[in-house]
Amino acid sequence: MTPFVPPGPHYDLAFFCRLKSEGRRFAMLTAYDYPTAAVAQAAGVHALLVGDSLGTVLLGHPNTRAVPLSLMLVLAEAVRRGAPHVYLVGDMPYEAMSGGAEATVTAAKRFRAEAGCDAVKFEAASGDERLVTRLGGAEIEVIAHLGLRPQQITSPDGYRAQARDQQSIASLVADARRMADAGAAMLLLEAVPNEAAQAVVAAVGVPVIGCGAGPACDGHVLVTHDMLGWGTIRPPRFVPVLARVATVYEDAIRRYVQDVTSRRYPGPEHVYHMRTPAGEAGQ
Ligand code: KIV
Repeated sequence: MTPFVPPGPHYDLAFFCRLKSEGRRFAMLTAYDYPTAAVAQAAGVHALLVGDSLGTVLLGHPNTRAVPLSLMLVLAEAVRRGAPHVYLVGDMPYEAMSGGAEATVTAAKRFRAEAGCDAVKFEAASGDERLVTRLGGAEIEVIAHLGLRPQQITSPDGYRAQARDQQSIASLVADARRMADAGAAMLLLEAVPNEAAQAVVAAVGVPVIGCGAGPACDGHVLVTHDMLGWGTIRPPRFVPVLARVATVYEDAIRRYVQDVTSRRYPGPEHVYHMRTPAGEAGQ
């Protein structure tokens, strides 16, 4: 069943291509739940990614491989409910990428049909341009994720910047060209130097989203929890930590514990009362 999307402005691929052609930037964040999506849309974000980073950020796994497709679909659907007008991208989890091309296409179709995603993103290796073409044949917009590919990393200390010499930049550019020629709607570059991003942006016509890829990119994406200071993982150096949400939560929870143990909570204002004899309901 196609999820209900209320009428209204909806950012689509043409919008991002127009921004790129005008030299304007767009902002993308991760979201894994309804309230985050609603707040992000209200704050003007253009695109949301239901990233498989939730495996480490929300589920506490050491890597992203254990994220079930079924969970991604449920959360993507919740994000779409919270943010009906953003460009919504479902991230293809390891499970959906490891069962062959047919399984990948089926999973991508489910992101669109069950969660109302506009596009899917997957971590692309050399040779995956055939998959991009196949997904395009099923009329699915694809974002090819190049550079650092977290699904290839199994320990928390394995996250390292990529394409830091001329040879690896050339190979990144070649991959980027192949993905764009195969029909990728956009590219995403994670953890590469700005020189590498510049070379990719110059080589392809599609919008390039950077995640720690420097100012040359057309748009930028961050893991929201990292940016909000909400979580236990130390954010990478490219993340601007713009709030300290963990501290806000901790202070409030500490106060709640103190209030309960000292009997300050519940106070009279938190207590239900019995019906009055006249039959009126208590507050
Ligand atoms: O899973 C994710 O959140 C991502 C971003 C880090 C780009 O792939």
